[in-house]
Amino acid sequence: MMFVVVLCGCFMMCVYADGVADVVLSCSLVEEGGGLGGGGLFTRTPATLVFKDVAVASDESLETLTPFVPPSVPDPDLIIFEAKVSSPKIPNSEVLLHADCNEQEVMCEMSRYTPRGSQDGSDPAYFMVSLNVEGVEFNTALILQTLTVQKDQKTLIQNKLGLPLSETGTLLTEVIFLVFSHVKAVSAPLRGDAVLHCGFKQKDTPLAQEMGIEWRLQHRGRGRKVLEMKTKLDDVEGSTVVHAERRGSSLDVVQVVDKGNASLSLTHLKVVDEGSYICTVNTGNFHCQQVIQLHVIQPPQVSLSEEKLVLKTNSPQTLSCHSSKYYPLDAQMEWFSLAPTDTEPTVFPHQGSLSSHRQHGDGTFSLSSHLTIPPSITPGTKIICVVSHPALDTHVSVSVVVESPEPDSYWWFVGFLVVTVLFFYQVMK
Ligand SMILES: *[C@@H]1O[C@H](CO)[C@@H](O)[C@H](O)[C@H]1NC(C)=O
Repeated sequence: MMFVVVLCGCFMMCVYADGVADVVLSCSLVEEGGGLGGGGLFTRTPATLVFKDVAVASDESLETLTPFVPPSVPDPDLIIFEAKVSSPKIPNSEVLLHADCNEQEVMCEMSRYTPRGSQDGSDPAYFMVSLNVEGVEFNTALILQTLTVQKDQKTLIQNKLGLPLSETGTLLTEVIFLVFSHVKAVSAPLRGDAVLHCGFKQKDTPLAQEMGIEWRLQHRGRGRKVLEMKTKLDDVEGSTVVHAERRGSSLDVVQVVDKGNASLSLTHLKVVDEGSYICTVNTGNFHCQQVIQLHVIQPPQVSLSEEKLVLKTNSPQTLSCHSSKYYPLDAQMEWFSLAPTDTEPTVFPHQGSLSSHRQHGDGTFSLSSHLTIPPSITPGTKIICVVSHPALDTHVSVSVVVESPEPDSYWWFVGFLVVTVLFFYQVMK
């Protein structure tokens, strides 16, 4: 049996058999109170979470190998959770093996969890773990249930939690329920559709108990229910009720029941659909959540006030650039000029004056920038309006070339000619 460990900053990985590894994560045990007066303060205690038997691909390359040294003497002050993850398997857990090596931060928070209908301090004990890996789509909330420890006189009790420790000084647990999402944020176009992913897994076969799914939208301090699904086990068959509060929201009941896929579909998105979506999955007496951000985006339509611009040598002129019907608000407009002799455009010496934002009935915005073109500008110069907006992959630009004025002397000459011709015509008659 191979027994090595990869030491990799904040966590270690121990591959001890083909295709299986232990992942060791640094976590915080978060408890309410503890501060003076206890006014809703949270205390954080370092804790370690060891996921046993995480499946790894056989071609894993292990970079830094050092022998693994388990704590030689069990210490009742240390908080070390050992969690079996064979069933249910944590989706995408191989991300955890590489996260820290790729300098992605693993966020791991644990707290005591009290299932509905049970009492604090009852046996077994439960913990909720929230795991997020920065930069990759790994967001999981899971519930650990403590396993029974055969107690004798030598059994140590963890000092802070009051729970019996195994012979190696760990808290033995298993994952019994988890809710996860492959996405932290989704951007979708106005009037378009979006799917917000939320999945769950539980130790018992699905629908062994009554279950419920609730999707809520939270935005600027206000919340509303978007959709609710409930299964009832009144009769042998059971029944499922889906109630969509938002028109055009749905979930696929077959996906929920067969695959543990509680994803929410939204059609014909509006600006008011934007916000934090909270997916809560209830099963039996447990519930877990994931939060997914939905951003509605709409790129601006950009146009210039003039299609043709003839220079007036005696008075300045105004050229306007319009950005219309975009969302969100943060659009930027900048003017550039490209003289006939230049190869690269340069920022216009003075920028246009901006109109105030106009908001339309559908929540989108419009903005204009008015540029004063000095009579001194060289004819042939290209004037460019560049608009940047989060909904644009790159910026959008529109331009017009300043044309030479028709010379005044030309008209004097034409007038003179006409008068002369008329004069001679009269004389000849
Ligand atoms: C989950 O279900 C949604 C439909 O509700 C579907 O679009 C999506 O592809 C499914 N996701 C997975 C991972 O099966």
